Amino acid sequence: MKFKVNNGLIYFFGALGGLLFGYDTGVISGAILFIKNDLHLTSWTEGIVVSSILFGCMIGAAISGALSDRLGRRKVVLIAATVFCIGALGTALAPNTMFLILFRIVLGIAVGSASTLVPMYLSEMAPTAIRGALSSLNQLMIMTGILLAYIVNYIFSSIEGWRWMLGIALIPGLLMLIGMFFLPESPRWLLKQKKEEEARSILNYMRKGKGVEEEINEIKLANKLEENQGGWSEVKQLWVRPALVAGIGLAVFQQIIGCNTVLYYAPTTFTNVGLGASAAILGTVGIGIVNVIITAVAVLIIDKIGRKPLLLIGNAGMSIALFVLGIVNVSLGQTTAASWTTVICLAIYIAFFSLSWGPVVWVMLSEIFPLRIRGIGMGIGSVTNWLANLVVSLTFPKLIEQFGISTMFISYGIMGVFAYIFVNKKIPETKGKSLEQIEMELRDNAISKGIDLAHTITK
Ligand code: BGC
Repeated sequence: MKFKVNNGLIYFFGALGGLLFGYDTGVISGAILFIKNDLHLTSWTEGIVVSSILFGCMIGAAISGALSDRLGRRKVVLIAATVFCIGALGTALAPNTMFLILFRIVLGIAVGSASTLVPMYLSEMAPTAIRGALSSLNQLMIMTGILLAYIVNYIFSSIEGWRWMLGIALIPGLLMLIGMFFLPESPRWLLKQKKEEEARSILNYMRKGKGVEEEINEIKLANKLEENQGGWSEVKQLWVRPALVAGIGLAVFQQIIGCNTVLYYAPTTFTNVGLGASAAILGTVGIGIVNVIITAVAVLIIDKIGRKPLLLIGNAGMSIALFVLGIVNVSLGQTTAASWTTVICLAIYIAFFSLSWGPVVWVMLSEIFPLRIRGIGMGIGSVTNWLANLVVSLTFPKLIEQFGISTMFISYGIMGVFAYIFVNKKIPETKGKSLEQIEMELRDNAISKGIDLAHTITK
């Protein structure tokens, strides 16, 4: 039978999408140094080469959620893996800037799809007690992908081998394609398609026969309640609005609290404090290792501590680090003390991000939407996340030029304070609840506010 692979492998191959996402986020920072010379990029085309992938990611995130509601999670992940391999090869062999940009967009479509589908697939496969841990496995794979990219950059930098750096992504791409071929479809999606026998045999296999009938009944009940609704009109219903606000808020705040700009800025900071080029690259690898370790800690504690406390602790830590950064840079100027404080604060910021907003956002996006719109909901969350990422990445260099780095750090810190307030007010705790329970609570809350669930389509 197709799914005669053990649970560990199911989760591992399922999470490979995260690795690809991370690899492509990390690899360009090193590769661009050599692409710039080789293809004679201007600062304008350099920006486009770097951020074109984000544009593709938006498209991928926009189409893959709804597509997977229709075709199934597994099929769309297979398509994404194929597109990924094409993109990886295309960027590695690109004869000129035009082709490079084009294939970076193709690659982005696959990465954006993976960012939507992988957490969704994992959370639908996982038993409640370890669902958070399994979904945040995705973030662990993102961080591992970034780390691998740093290492590959380091290895190939001596021969200026940017084509190798980009092309090596083909290996995990192929692994995902082959692995996914043997993985089962999500039982939750199958039940939605009324393929109960198939769903039962997959659940029986994965849960070793334990609690399978209860789980099937829970999923069926949730499905039944939604039978008469469909697609985008559901998204507009008043009772799902709190989930939508929570999802979009988390997706946008994750980016406007500055995670990617700080990650990109970190390597430059090492050279600023006087490290040589190779030491700076090694320092970057060090940051990558710390990221992976702390994300692993988050995976271990997310189902115990809960999502909300992690987000709040993360916000407090990140904002304090950013405020100190901003103030130190203004008051101490270009001194050694300022440089080292900068390194320490950046490390603290990244550590808190890896513990909280990095993993928790993707976990929660996969949990908070009702089943029938989970695909679309995740899609909306991912698209807004990539859009916010694109806006922040494109504006960052100009904003630094205009206002200086200190003001930028302080602004991201202030965004962190807003994010803290937002989480406190708008985010429900989902720890220890089944996906169906989370959905019931959404309905109950709507009923308690007097929203009529049967007639809630807004104009
Ligand atoms: C974010 C990405 C980021 C990555 C690594 C993810 O959770 O969505 O934008 O690049 O973490 O920090």
